[in-house]
Amino acid sequence: MAQKQKRSPLPYIVGSVLVLGVAVFVSDLMTSGSKSSATRQIKIPELSEVAKRGKVAFEENCAACHGINAAGTDSGPSFIDPIYRPAHHADQAFFLAPKRGVRAHHWRFGNMPVLSDPPDDRTLAEIVTYIRELQRANGIR
Ligand code: HEC
Repeated sequence: MAQKQKRSPLPYIVGSVLVLGVAVFVSDLMTSGSKSSATRQIKIPELSEVAKRGKVAFEENCAACHGINAAGTDSGPSFIDPIYRPAHHADQAFFLAPKRGVRAHHWRFGNMPVLSDPPDDRTLAEIVTYIRELQRANGIR
């Protein structure tokens, strides 16, 4: 007579791994579009000379909110996000934001204030070059 086999624990293990996976996925979804950008992993490319100057200016003027490597902070979004691809936020947006401020509309960080001492346009152009090089290295074009 065939011996009745003990049930294998495998389905339960597979089941709990799946549940865990779904939970992680859902919590990811819940945080994206809010402030999750602060934890983003950014690939750093070899920067052009112009972008290197842009990086210095970005760190002086923008990184307090937009983060080192534009990775975002609790006070502002990462620019390494498809929302800020050139087709959606043209370079012009980067010239206007520091002078006019930005009313919060994409995230929940609040408004971007008018900067008291915004970089001049030449410096802003370098900042844009820097951000675009970072974006391209991270698949945002
Ligand atoms: C005091 C914090 C702070 C600083 C400093 C700051 N920003 Fe922002 N910025 C924000 C926040 C917050 C938003 C997001 C607004 C929203 O919800 O869309 C933002 C959004 C933007 C946007 C998107 C504009 C749009 O049209 O959606 C651009 C471009 C931008 N910032 C550029 C810059 C640049 C360039 C600098 C530095 C020269 C800078 N910011 C410095 C807080 C800041």
